[in-house]
Amino acid sequence: MNTEVQFCQLERSKIAYLDFGQGPPLLLVHGFPLNRSMWDWQHPLSEHYRLLIPDLPGFGESSFSGTELALEETVKQIIQWLDAIEVEKVIFCGLSMGGYLGWRFWKDYHQRLGGLIACNTRAAGDNPTVLRARQIAAESVRQNGVAGLAEEMLPRLFASISHDRHPSRVAKVRQMILSSDPERVAQAQLAMAARPDATDWLSQIQVPMLFIAGQFDQITPSAEMQANCQCVPKARWVEIPESGHLSPLENPSAFNKALIDFKNWVI
Ligand code: MLT
Repeated sequence: MNTEVQFCQLERSKIAYLDFGQGPPLLLVHGFPLNRSMWDWQHPLSEHYRLLIPDLPGFGESSFSGTELALEETVKQIIQWLDAIEVEKVIFCGLSMGGYLGWRFWKDYHQRLGGLIACNTRAAGDNPTVLRARQIAAESVRQNGVAGLAEEMLPRLFASISHDRHPSRVAKVRQMILSSDPERVAQAQLAMAARPDATDWLSQIQVPMLFIAGQFDQITPSAEMQANCQCVPKARWVEIPESGHLSPLENPSAFNKALIDFKNWVI
């Protein structure tokens, strides 16, 4: 398994990524404000898929030279990177913010999608309370850095059972947040706030879809994901037991099984 990081220089960004494994290309897109190492527990899937695991522009080891990272722009950078490494079609698997990017990817580049996996995410846009909270959080990160954000988010990212069982995973996620660039974190908050409501798009999605929810997810509740799933013509819904918002690393064996089952269903 060659898990060495590679770099791809584009006009406006440099993408750090992993590319290894055998099978249909599976693009794993991380959540906010994390990086590609949140998918470390999915590396065994390389026996079933060619895994493409980038740091999004401005996160992890990827850089972005522009001034504003709207979700459309991030998706454009992903497409330019896929073009550069000559990958035409992918199964797009995004968690939370990665899922918001998935809706956008479908909207703008559906011909590049072989399947769509929405993990711990939602189709709806933000209500006014969440919008206001994002503006305050963006301002606070710009002024005070990311430490406060890490402590505010961690209790909500993991199920309480995971805080007890997997303290080293919680510590790893804390480190991911602390190492992120405050300005890019602020921009990502504002980009998520500006995203459209994708609920009306769901019935038009023609590629096979998988919804993966976390049993104890407080941020994107399982019931809301199940309701989203019912709107998509060809979709399955899986709830990962004993996990919160970060199901891939809270319960990797159940999560990975869901992705293998999806491949067997669609390929
Ligand atoms: C994420 O995990 O990517 C975020 O919780 C998404 C959000 O803030 O809506």
